[in-house]
Parts: sequence; structure tokens; C-alpha cells
Amino acid sequence: MKQKLFLIVMVAVVIFSQCQSREPQQKATLPTEEEAKMSITKTFFGKTGGGQAVDLYTLTNANKMAVKITNYGGIVTSIMVPDKNGELDDVVLGFDTLETYLEGHPYFGAIVGRYGNRIAKGQFTLKGVTYKLAANNGENHLHGGIKGFDKVVWKAKEIKKENEVGVRLSYLSKDGEEGYPGNLSAVVTYTLTNDNELKIHYEAETDKPTPVNLTHHSYFNLGGAGSGDVLGHVLTLHADRYTPVDVGLIPTGELKPVKDTPMDFTTPTAIGKRIHEVKGGYDHNYVLNNWDESQPSLRLAARVKEPISGRVMEVWTTEPGMQFYSGNFLDGTITGKKGKVYHKHYGFCLETQHFPDSPNKPNFPSTILEPGKEYTHTTVYTFKTK
Ligand code: GLA
Repeated sequence: MKQKLFLIVMVAVVIFSQCQSREPQQKATLPTEEEAKMSITKTFFGKTGGGQAVDLYTLTNANKMAVKITNYGGIVTSIMVPDKNGELDDVVLGFDTLETYLEGHPYFGAIVGRYGNRIAKGQFTLKGVTYKLAANNGENHLHGGIKGFDKVVWKAKEIKKENEVGVRLSYLSKDGEEGYPGNLSAVVTYTLTNDNELKIHYEAETDKPTPVNLTHHSYFNLGGAGSGDVLGHVLTLHADRYTPVDVGLIPTGELKPVKDTPMDFTTPTAIGKRIHEVKGGYDHNYVLNNWDESQPSLRLAARVKEPISGRVMEVWTTEPGMQFYSGNFLDGTITGKKGKVYHKHYGFCLETQHFPDSPNKPNFPSTILEPGKEYTHTTVYTFKTK
């Protein structure tokens, strides 16, 4: 009898303790309804000419917004976002296959580095030493050179956190690569949140002083990639000044007020309203308002609205500048996703950055990264409807 009672008590204790230990564990691992709808998948995208395997990651959030990113060039190949009726469409230019990216293209969706935008005559002098970079844009150096960060294979790691999914890309740019000094270790993390934000966080470290200016080069069309030009998109830029350029698109060094010029987007203005007054179209660096060099914080840099779809995109950044490029060099020779042809002004770029040619412009904020210091930059592209 005593033995039976002991057994019953023991069984009860075991069952009770199991319930106790299981319950909180289950609670901790059960995702919320929102989190359950978020996903990250990886598929094989192809191989580079050198035989390196490349993947395509698809990040999806609870609102069915989906972003595709490949570790070749850190390229965002697609961003599906809802319009005012909830209809999804792809709002960035690009290609369906890796092969077409490998054939060459004007930086569609890519991570640009080591130096986004131009360095005059492909050279700069640092601590008495003159460094020669590739001249791949006339006599100037553009977007990191012949094989910049847009054309290398990055290591990728999937990230899943509460209310966000992402991909962490890392790349070691060796000392002397494209003419730049120092081994530069770069990390770029793309994150999609349930608030329809695509966050890009950049980090870099070096073992020798070197210029660093990383950016992202998506061509947006909020009416849908390949659907037409972007001249009807209404743009607001939180920038009272811009950096005027010479014929080679190198800044003159001046910071010029936009007031009373076709460069003024301080109030909502259609991209096409005065574009014909700007030679070649917009391809200029704007000096973003309220940048504090000692403590760069995330500020609203731009807001773009496409009136028909009602899609709105905001750009938030910690950077001092932003290149507004109105797709002037697109000329109908590129056929993109779903066989759509990309004509002039079919996409626009908002490339958050330090000012072009900063290594040769002592009056511009410095882009030189010193050993022991960390380069960081955050930019957030937020999608809404109105
Ligand atoms: C940047 C430059 C442009 C052009 C494009 C790519 O936006 O500022 O001049 O080079 O990249 O075609």
C-alpha cells in the first residue's frame, strides 16, 4: 500500500514538473501571428564565370512585402510592395537571371564600394602618397572601379529576429584591390521589417587609412519596373543645397543653394517638372539638411510618391549626402525582368553617401577610414501608400 502511494506521488510529481518546464518553453518558442508570416528562403541563383556559386534570398514580411537579394554584388533584384489597393508590384529595375547580371549593367540594385560615385582623375593623395585607381568613367574613377563591390561574391548569413528577417553579407577587399590601400573588411546587412522597411546597415574596418563610401544603387519605379518613366513621381528632398558639378560630373567644391533653381525639391515636385532645364537630367549629390558629423542620426532625406498606384517611399539615412540620379543613361538597350525594356528615365536612384570626390576636396566631410575606427552607415527605405 505504502509503495503504491509512493509510486502515485512520484508519477504526479514527474507529470507536474514536466508541465511546469514545458509550458514556458513552448510560450517562448511560439512565434506571434505576425512573426509566423515572416520568412526567409534561399535558392541557387547560378555560378559566376569563375565558378563561384551564388544564391538568391527571398525575405517576406507579414504584409506580403518581399525582397529578393543575391550575394553576387549584394544586388537587390526585386522589391514587391502593395499599392493603395493592396496589389503587389515589383518596384525596382533588374533581371530575372544571374547570367544577365554577369553580362554587365549600370549597377542595378547593387552595393557600391569601396567608393560610391566619382573620384576625379582616379587618384588621390593620402599622407603624402598618391594612389592611382582605375579610370572607368572617362578620366575619372566611378563606383569602386572595374571590379567594384557590385561584382564580387559576398559571404551570406541568414538572420531571423523578432519582427524582422535579413541577410548579412560580408566581403574582404584586399590591400591594393582596384588601387585602394589597406585590407578592408566590409559587412552589409539587409533587413526587412513588418513595418515595410528595407534597412541597410553598412560596417567596415581597415588596416591602413583608405577612403570608404558605400551606397546602394536600386533604380526605383513605384509604378512598377518597366511600366513607364518616373517623370510623374512627386519628389521631396530634405536638402537646401547641392554640390554643383563640372562636365565630367565632378563636384566643383561649392555647396550651392537649390532655391529658385530646377534643383529645388524642398517642396513636393514632379521629377519631370523642370528636368529639361537640367543638362543631361538629374545626376547630382544633394547636401542633406541637419547632418551632425559628431553624431550622425537617422533623418528623413527623401519622400517620393507615385500618384497612380499611391505608393510612397521614404528614405532615411545617417549620411550627409544623397545622389539623385534620374536614369539619364538608360536608353532602351536593356531588356529587364519579364522582357520589359528600360528606356530613358524609367527608374530613379537615391544613393545615400558622402559627397563625390571627397578624397580630393578638403572642404567636404572626410571619407578616410583610419585603422581602429569603424565605418558605419544606415539607410532605411520605407514603403507606404497614400
Ligand atoms: C550613378 C552616377 C551616374 C551613373 C550611374 C550608373 O548614379 O552618378 O552618373 O554613373 O550611377 O549609370
